[in-house]
Parts: sequence; structure tokens; C-alpha cells
Amino acid sequence: MSLTTCNVHFSPQSDKVIYLSSPLLKQLKLAGKKSIHLKLGNEVITTELRSLKRSGNHLYLSAGVRQLIKVPKSGNVYVLNSGENEVQIGPLVGILSDSGLRSESNPFGGRTNFIKQIIRMGEHKAYLFGFTPSDINWQLETVNGYFLSPQGGWYRKVVPLPDVVYNRLPNRKAEFSTSISSLREKFVRRKIPFFNWSFFNKSDVYKLLDNDPEALHHLPESVSNPTSEKMKEMLEKHQFLYFKPTAGSLGVGIYRLTYHPKRGYFVRYRKGRENVLLRFPNFTGLMRMLQARHGNTLNQYVVQQGIRLVEIDSCPLDFRFHMHKNGKNEWVPAGIGAKKAGRGSVTTHVKNGGQLMTPEQALSRTFGGQADAVLDKAKSVAIKLSEAIERNYPHRLGELGLDLGIDKDGEVWMFEANAKPGRSIYKHPALRSEGRASVSFILEHCMYLSRFQGGNG
Ligand SMILES: Nc1ncnc2c1ncn2[C@@H]1O[C@H](COP(=O)(O)OP(=O)(O)O)[C@@H](O)[C@H]1O
Ligand SMILES: [Mg+2]
Repeated sequence: MSLTTCNVHFSPQSDKVIYLSSPLLKQLKLAGKKSIHLKLGNEVITTELRSLKRSGNHLYLSAGVRQLIKVPKSGNVYVLNSGENEVQIGPLVGILSDSGLRSESNPFGGRTNFIKQIIRMGEHKAYLFGFTPSDINWQLETVNGYFLSPQGGWYRKVVPLPDVVYNRLPNRKAEFSTSISSLREKFVRRKIPFFNWSFFNKSDVYKLLDNDPEALHHLPESVSNPTSEKMKEMLEKHQFLYFKPTAGSLGVGIYRLTYHPKRGYFVRYRKGRENVLLRFPNFTGLMRMLQARHGNTLNQYVVQQGIRLVEIDSCPLDFRFHMHKNGKNEWVPAGIGAKKAGRGSVTTHVKNGGQLMTPEQALSRTFGGQADAVLDKAKSVAIKLSEAIERNYPHRLGELGLDLGIDKDGEVWMFEANAKPGRSIYKHPALRSEGRASVSFILEHCMYLSRFQGGNG
């Protein structure tokens, strides 16, 4: 397989013919051929092939060819010899998203800018476009994609189904619907790599790692849908628990429970803009309160051993490790944010008073001279955890947001793994370059999955 870049030109002829400059013909081992198969995304056509005396890698597509195979634009992309007498240009990469608040200039609502960032970075490497589920025509196997003009505006173009899909559908509920499940299945049936598969539930991730001793070592003891007896038993065992909705995010609905044999049971949680602290002399009172607040939805909760995190100014500190798969299919920590909890807050979320720091800033204040060693250890644990999640998960993953804590002994713990991690850590001025690196890993991994990358056979 030979992979190279080329400059794609549009020529006005209406017949079905493709011209390749002689150096390109040679590189793709096509010298002497009269016709070839040309592939873009999941579409293949057969066209006449002619050579052109010109230096450099150039490819001219006649209007007749373009009409059939729907090449979205001229300019630089990759080209590879993808099979017997077959040339593939691309990759054609689709970014799947949606929003309840769509407009012409913001077709993906709050995610529009992020999608623009990815497309811009891949400008001369690939054909990148955004799309929503309703832009797919499964009968014709085409997508009415959103492409970005050099001026930064959107234009629509119908293209074949892409070589790879980066899934950023925003809505947890919709993602578990039958229509989105069948959308995913349709891509898989056509062997179109689709990542990430969907949002995670906390209990699913904990269960995934149940038989993976290496990962389990970094997971606080966790029980899904615990009985009252189990809760009581765990409170007596650990004295400190977190009680969390399995499908929750942003700290919503989380309780921090502690048990003092002499003083009773304490509960902390967030109510509106306030942190609440309650004391119950006995366990029944505690459970009655939780039941009164949540009723039957308590069966959607997980209980987890509480970890005594390192602190700054008496406020717990934890970390978001934004993990990406790179162009060699390896996990790398692309960006790491440290978060110091707001005073009295149960979680470290910025919206609940938390403060974002670089890991170096945070760890030098907690581990002094040992900070570098602690960070290196946390990075290698984050890689191991990502590998373990991937190993035990039946679908494709290319990105993970791990919420990790470090205890006073320097041990690393995972609280949850997010399959659609937010990007708020990159708002920190010192993490901007990591933000760009994260986008470039997405791109690299798309190149890898679509086989438009050297070194993957
Ligand atoms: N077992 C635990 N021990 C100590 N702190 C925890 C534990 N679980 C969660 N936390 C704290 O609460 C925060 C939110 O928990 P997380 O599981 O990430 O839920 P969410 O989906 O709401 O982000 C974590 O970032 C951490 O600061
Ligand atoms: Mg979290």
C-alpha cells in the first residue's frame, strides 16, 4: 500500500476521466493502466485513466467523475493505492453531532466551534464535515454534510458515507434510543469505524473492570443499586462513601456520606447554589431522607468507597485526564486538568465553586519535590485504565475523560470514565496548547482508522 499526498484539481470535461501526473502514477504503481477504480468514502466508481506530463503529485477530476463520486472540493488530500487497480482519496471524515438549539451559523449548537476547530486543523489532510442523524440518506448511502469555507462559514455538500465517524452526539437519552442504536448498527454493518460508541453509565464501567485485577486495583469499591443493608455494611467498613446517579454528570445528585460511630451519619450534597450538611443519629433517618428525595430512582444509583483526596487549603483536589488514541492506536494523556473543590462542596466541578489548575501547580503544593514522580505515576495509571476499559468494552473507543483522584499516600483512584468528555479544562490559559493537541489526536486517530496513516499495515 502506498500512501502519499496529492493536489486534487477540478477540470471542466464532462466525460468520465481522471488524469494523474506522471510522478503520482509511478508512486501509485499505475503506469500503463487504462482505467481504475476511484474510491471516496464508501463509494467506488470506474473511470478512464490518463497520464499528464507535470511534476509533483496532481490529480485532475473531470466534471463527469465528480458528479458520480461527489468529491467535495479541490486542494490537498491523501491518496492511496487501496487495492487491485484501486485508488482512494480522502479520508472522508464525518463528525456526528446535534443540538436542540440549531441555527444556520451554529448547526451544532454549543459544539459548533469545537467541530470547526477539528475541521480547520484537518483542512489540507482530509475531507472533514459535520452532520446530524437526519442528514444521512441510508437509501442512497449519502450524507448532506456541513463543510467549512475558508472564510469560516458553512456550506452544504452531498458526499458518500464517510470512511470514519467521530461521534459527538450530545444527548445521553437520545443516544440510548432505538433510532440512534440502529444508526450505529448501520455504520458497523458497512464496516465504517464509529467512535466513541456512546455515553457510559458509571455502573457499566465499574462492571466492565470487575474482572480486570490491574484496573480494579485503582477503582474504589463500588456497588450498583445497593440494598440498604449493603449501604450500611459499606458505611461501617469505610466510614466514608460517595452515592452517585449512574447516568449522572456535573456532580448533579451526588451525596457524600460519612459515619462516625459516636456521632452518627453525616450527609453533604449540593442544593441549588448551596452546600447542605445534615446529621442523622441513625441509619434509618439517612435512608428515609434519600428515599424522600429520590424515591424509585434510587435504583439508578451506585455507592462507592470514599477516597481521602489530597487537599489544598483544606479543599479536596482531583484530576481530569483527557485520554486520546493517537495515530498509532495507542492511548496518550493529551490534557490534564487539576480541580480544587469549592469550600464545603461535594465535588470539584467549577460550576460548584471548584477551581481549575495545571497538574504541576496543584501537585507541587501537595507533594512538593515528589510532584513530578506522582504525576508520572498517575499518567501511567491513566493509560493502563484506558487500555483496560477498551479491552473489556465490546465497541470502539478513541477518547476518554477519566476523573482520577490521588490520595495522601500517592495512590491513584478512578471515580468515573466519560466517553464524551467535555473540554472545559482547555479554558485554562496554560492548557491551550494541550487543547490543540487533543484536537490533533482526534484527527490522527481518524486517519489511522480510515487507514490513511503510515505504519498501520
Ligand atoms: N469515591 C469517591 N471518593 C472521593 N471523591 C469522589 C468519589 N467519587 C466522586 N468523587 C468526587 O466527586 C466528583 C464527581 O464525581 P463523578 O463520579 O466524576 O461524577 P459526575 O458524573 O457527576 O462528574 C469527582 O470528580 C470527585 O471530586
Ligand atoms: Mg465526573
